Amino acid sequence: MDQGQFVVAESECGTILGCCRLRPYPEFCELASLAVDQDRRANGVGRAIVARLLERYPGDVYLICEDHVMKFFSHFGFRPVPAEDMPAGLEPKWRHFHFLIGSMNVMLLERSHGA
Ligand SMILES: CC(C)(COP(=O)(O)OP(=O)(O)OC[C@H]1O[C@@H](n2cnc3c(N)ncnc32)[C@H](O)[C@@H]1OP(=O)(O)O)[C@@H](O)C(=O)NCCC(=O)NCCS
Repeated sequence: MDQGQFVVAESECGTILGCCRLRPYPEFCELASLAVDQDRRANGVGRAIVARLLERYPGDVYLICEDHVMKFFSHFGFRPVPAEDMPAGLEPKWRHFHFLIGSMNVMLLERSHGA
């Protein structure tokens, strides 16, 4: 399934394998809500979902993530940015998860001002 802001990966028999959202803001998009079924991980599903979403939008993409997935996102060119540099629209979410989880990271895939 592949509708608008969302990508949902399904098996041939219709079992949901994973999903993600590319949430639009006026100046950028946020990659959010990425999850792959625990029993289906490490099979390339997460990478395929993210790649499909990134094809849809040529501009800057931010995300907020925990430490252990930074390496996964760096495969796509995301790099960590200081929390004080995040767009104002992401701050409420970042504060929420920082309060709940502690260490949270902001990452940016910068494409708007490329050569
Ligand atoms: C993060 C997640 C979506 C990855 O999905 P996946 O289908 O297992 O990932 P893939 O199989 O496509 O992995 C692609 C690459 O990332 C690596 N990778 C996957 N998960 C990783 C992790 N947690 N930490 C470090 N590397 C990871 C894989 O080893 C693979 O690298 P390789 O191709 O060089 O071997 C999945 O582990 C998940 O749902 N985690 C729980 C939810 C979560 O943390 N979501 C992110 C919220 S921001």
